[in-house]
Amino acid sequence: MIKHSIRLHPLGKELLVNDQTPLIDVLHEFGIEFPCGGKGTCGKCKVRLLAGEVETTVTHQQKLGKFGLSPDWRLACFSQCTSDITLEIEQFNHLILADESEFGFQPQQGYGIAIDLGTTTVVAQLIDLSSAKVLAVETMLNPQVKFGANLISRIQACLDGNSPEITRIIRSATGTMIELMLKKHPVEIHKVILVGNSIMQLIFSNCDVSPLSMYPFKTDNLGMKTFDPEELGWSFQVKDKVKFYPSIGSFVGSDILAGIAATGIHQKENYTALIDLGTNGEIVIGNKNQIVCASTAAGPAFEGASISMGMRAVSGAISSLNLVEEKIEAIVIGNTAPKGICGSALIDAVAILYKMELIGMFGEINSGESQIHLSGKVSLTQKDINEFQLAKAAIAAGLTILAKNLSVELSEIETIYIAGGFGNYINIGNVIATGMIESQEERIHKMGNTALIGAKMFLFSDSTITNAILAKTRHINLEGHPNFQDIYVDKMLL
Ligand code: FES
Repeated sequence: MIKHSIRLHPLGKELLVNDQTPLIDVLHEFGIEFPCGGKGTCGKCKVRLLAGEVETTVTHQQKLGKFGLSPDWRLACFSQCTSDITLEIEQFNHLILADESEFGFQPQQGYGIAIDLGTTTVVAQLIDLSSAKVLAVETMLNPQVKFGANLISRIQACLDGNSPEITRIIRSATGTMIELMLKKHPVEIHKVILVGNSIMQLIFSNCDVSPLSMYPFKTDNLGMKTFDPEELGWSFQVKDKVKFYPSIGSFVGSDILAGIAATGIHQKENYTALIDLGTNGEIVIGNKNQIVCASTAAGPAFEGASISMGMRAVSGAISSLNLVEEKIEAIVIGNTAPKGICGSALIDAVAILYKMELIGMFGEINSGESQIHLSGKVSLTQKDINEFQLAKAAIAAGLTILAKNLSVELSEIETIYIAGGFGNYINIGNVIATGMIESQEERIHKMGNTALIGAKMFLFSDSTITNAILAKTRHINLEGHPNFQDIYVDKMLL
């Protein structure tokens, strides 16, 4: 029997299927919904073909035309797998975190665009600079995913000679997002500000990423980058230069700089921390006098990618688990039978299983079996628990080493902000119970997309804020700490 692989972005999953398997038969297992039952009338099951071939019938082409979809799109309910393919799942787009929070600002004339350029997702907002009102929002999956889901694969793609293309597609995608917002609100744009991690900054700016692929992982090329819209291939005018804000260090980008501005760490009397719980798990601790920051190798466990039944927070995913009268109760998105587990429930699962003494302090399953049943068909394996321990230890060790660097105790950190889409759904009590963050519940606050909030704040300021933050911020190499290994291993314990 001929087999083909299907890779799903941004889930990071790969599955093997028989030749001519209908996509509807396999994609629903990953929480992808088929609202009209596969009749081709709702268009909600659309997927973008990033690599490989999916043939279309005349009826399928007519349906694609009816929904105004370009040639790289398919309706999953009308498609079969006949070759190795890579798909971008449109339904995952709504999980991208935009932001509507309020902040202090000095009113200005005109309109600005703030863009958070993430490795997986991109969010853009059109802002009225007289009121800070959000006039339009566009979100998309980063089209660079066709070169791989994580930063290492994007760097590798550049080293393999794909730099011009990987730069072109993100410049083109952000330009299209702005055009879409301008269609809804035809205004003259005064400013465009982008923030993102250092690799995203280098790629967008068409700079060499190779220094960050090898020891000592340093480049002098992480300062503010400015562009005319024409050199980005954009067909609309921008009054000021387009600006990509400076990174703080080799793997701590302007998204974290924006996060510092959004949380006001640089102005606080008491020590404050910011944790972005993504694949890189960036951490900042500081106050008005000094700030230290680092990136950790937290890995993809929080996004469900390295967990056997892990999935994103879509229909069928267990989003949280509770212990009720000695029984584990699952809350499932979409109120359906559980198909998998997302990052927030993974934290709950480990905290609850430890409390029930079903797993021990080393994460070992006490019964000696290879997995523990959670709900419906969903179980957690020994390997899943160990993957979680690696991720949580990276965060816990990062916090400890940064605090040591400032000569403060973790208990002296008055407030800890958790940023990022995933951070919004977690149970803080269970985060503490697993030992990921050693603090008290009332000190930990979820803050959403701090990168986007900060980028919007930058629209209203000159570079004074960023220069002030950069002047007092030090980038720390965690692995360079003499006790890193000991601390990391110690933090793996529950
Ligand atoms: S499920 Fe409605 S168009 Fe495919």
